[in-house]
Amino acid sequence: MEKTDRIFVAGHRGLVGSAIRRELERNGCSNLLLKTHAELDLMDRSSVERFFAREQPRYVFLAAAKVGGILANNDFPADFIRDNLEIQTNVIDAASRAGVERLLFLGSSCIYPKLCPQPIKEEYLLTGPLEATNRPYSIAKIAGIEMCWSYNRQHGTRFLAAMPTNLYGPGDNFDLHKSHVLPALIRKAAEAKANGERKIVVWGTGTPRRELLYSDDLAVACVFLMNLPEAKFRTLLNSEEPPLINIGTGEDLTIRDLGELVCRVIGFEGQLEFDTTKPDGTPRKLLDVSRIHALGWRAGTSLEEGIRRTYEWAKESFLLAPA
Ligand SMILES: NC(=O)c1ccc[n+]([C@@H]2O[C@H](COP(=O)([O-])OP(=O)(O)OC[C@H]3O[C@@H](n4cnc5c(N)ncnc54)[C@H](OP(=O)(O)O)[C@@H]3O)[C@@H](O)[C@H]2O)c1
Repeated sequence: MEKTDRIFVAGHRGLVGSAIRRELERNGCSNLLLKTHAELDLMDRSSVERFFAREQPRYVFLAAAKVGGILANNDFPADFIRDNLEIQTNVIDAASRAGVERLLFLGSSCIYPKLCPQPIKEEYLLTGPLEATNRPYSIAKIAGIEMCWSYNRQHGTRFLAAMPTNLYGPGDNFDLHKSHVLPALIRKAAEAKANGERKIVVWGTGTPRRELLYSDDLAVACVFLMNLPEAKFRTLLNSEEPPLINIGTGEDLTIRDLGELVCRVIGFEGQLEFDTTKPDGTPRKLLDVSRIHALGWRAGTSLEEGIRRTYEWAKESFLLAPA
């Protein structure tokens, strides 16, 4: 990517999109195309087509999506499959028609089967049943990968799907009804500390293992992939397998260990209590990141440092009580 290239970051106010925007700006990219949801509803096909025809972006980061935790996925399954299918179909199709040079479609590690071997290689896609709680969301994301692959074959596009592991960082959602595990833990520990409480309640048994990637590290990986020299980029797009690449740290830990780390960073000295009536989700989810490591990218932020920065951001954004 040249610094003056027109680059559309779809979903630039979200956790992932805002990190990609920051990384592009750090790289001196001066021609970013940014539209809020209110300015451009990506579910509105004709508006999306008009936008692409008018703006002619050269690169697209597709980080707009309907995203949520177990509770939201459970309560609104129809919204999750409809919104995601519509957003990605509109953007991928319009990008193809407008002759976009490279597009990066952001998916998620929940596309992989619930009980697949660990660490999860890209080739395990569609080899077994999915986790039930977010199946509508996962199937929409799988359809997005299939669309990238099909458009590449039929229209000669160069669209790549990146599957990040669980993410966290500045811009995260701290609403307990919608949040993922880490912001929920940060919020509970920060509030318990502020209120002088002695314990926090954590969903599930605490035994599932999770991998967590700092959002700024993901953004570095996304820009790295879009900047790959042509010969390397082409190795990710062949007609034999989906154009898919995992992005993660290659390391995981239990929810219990994660909870203890969060408490240590925040300075909350009470106990963790596990509510085993609540679902655990997938027992383990660790991505095999050898493909992206072989290309030359590795995550650079330790989990402890990432949690500290996220906590500071949440306090500065008045999402959490001051310590
Ligand atoms: N967060 C994670 O742990 C995680 C992990 C792996 C992969 N990912 C992937 O990364 C991508 C982005 O996730 P995220 O965590 O950044 O989500 P997010 O924080 O909820 O951001 C999503 C963005 O998309 C926008 N958006 C949603 N519907 C839209 C529409 N119809 N038109 C225009 N904009 C729309 C939202 O704008 P409004 O808020 O204004 O609606 C928001 O800015 C998703 O594809 C997700 O699968 C996320």
